[in-house]
Amino acid sequence: MENRILMVCLGNICRSPLAEGVLKNKVNPDTVFVDSAGTGGYHIGNPPDFRSIAIAKKYGIDISKQRCRQFMASDFDSFDTIYAMDKSNYNNIVRLAKTADDIAKVKLLLEESDSVETEVPDPYYGANDGFELIYHLIDAACTSIAVKL
Ligand code: 4NP
Repeated sequence: MENRILMVCLGNICRSPLAEGVLKNKVNPDTVFVDSAGTGGYHIGNPPDFRSIAIAKKYGIDISKQRCRQFMASDFDSFDTIYAMDKSNYNNIVRLAKTADDIAKVKLLLEESDSVETEVPDPYYGANDGFELIYHLIDAACTSIAVKL
């Protein structure tokens, strides 16, 4: 059966599009479906931030064709696991849950990683090296997820 995984951040233009692209690059698309969404609605329909597109491209991944969408309550029915990039995203997702089963699907992405970090920091207002940092945090977690699938 297909495994369905949703990556979620605030804007769905920096962190979660990168997480979607990185995980897709490590799994079999016939058995694993990966998508991303943002808890906020500021950038709906937009491509990822140019800095996320650039860092993905540096590591051989094209995320330029992704388009931003907002997380919705029906995503709890459509996905098996929902990964939040940070605790604020986690709380925003869980607020829309209707059942304990919904809540049980939500994890912090870095729970999957050995990293001492617990959150993928929001790089939107920071310097470009923030994107290098989040790439490596996301990549390590996605490697662990792909190994377990
Ligand atoms: P993301 O970064 O949650 O990683 O996509 C952000 C992008 C945009 C905004 C905040 C965070 N914003 O406030 O517009």
